[in-house]
Amino acid sequence: MRLAVLVSGSGTNLQALLDAIAADPGFGGEVVVVGSDRPDAGGLERARAAGIATVVEALDDHPDRPTWEGVLRARLEDQEPDAVVLAGFMRILSGAFLDGWPDRVINTHPSLLPAFRGAHAVSDALEHGVKLTGSTVHLVDEQVDHGPIVAQRAVEVAEDDDETSLHERIKVVEHELLPACVKLLCQDRLVVDGRHVHVRPDRSRP
Ligand code: GRF
Repeated sequence: MRLAVLVSGSGTNLQALLDAIAADPGFGGEVVVVGSDRPDAGGLERARAAGIATVVEALDDHPDRPTWEGVLRARLEDQEPDAVVLAGFMRILSGAFLDGWPDRVINTHPSLLPAFRGAHAVSDALEHGVKLTGSTVHLVDEQVDHGPIVAQRAVEVAEDDDETSLHERIKVVEHELLPACVKLLCQDRLVVDGRHVHVRPDRSRP
């Protein structure tokens, strides 16, 4: 499966995905383009280092959101991706974008959804005093951090955690969970039934 990855930040999740693909001949996917809304996103450097095409479309360079989204979608489509991975992409995408890849846009979010949706999930969890948070990988719908959940893993909150230390431990988990879920998507093993995502058995195994 040909994958587009969208990033806004340092791109450690992108890197984890690239490393997982490189290490696994049976992964079933390749990253063909990395897009960003930020020209300075570290993820773009990682893509260039891996010889992957990059696309940068800043929202401010367009008259409105629909135009920005349309241009971003068209430029990704130049590389004919079959699915889109949001790996720390900090912009909301509307149905006009998502319609291009039904049930094939996947996102990683640093909390146990539906708790702590939005851009400040780690600090919100700390502020709320939860003892357990974690990582969620989900399919993307038109609501923020809302679509059907593919997988979740918990991370304990330590007494002395700050946002950075907690986020770093969540990222360690994300770096395993996101590639594992993208692999399932690439192998066409995700079956979506309303809010429920079922995983088809691995037919390549005896
Ligand atoms: C991840 O924790 C992701 O869940 C969140 O932003 C972070 C991106 O990290 N939305 P990176 O750019 O992959 O290092």
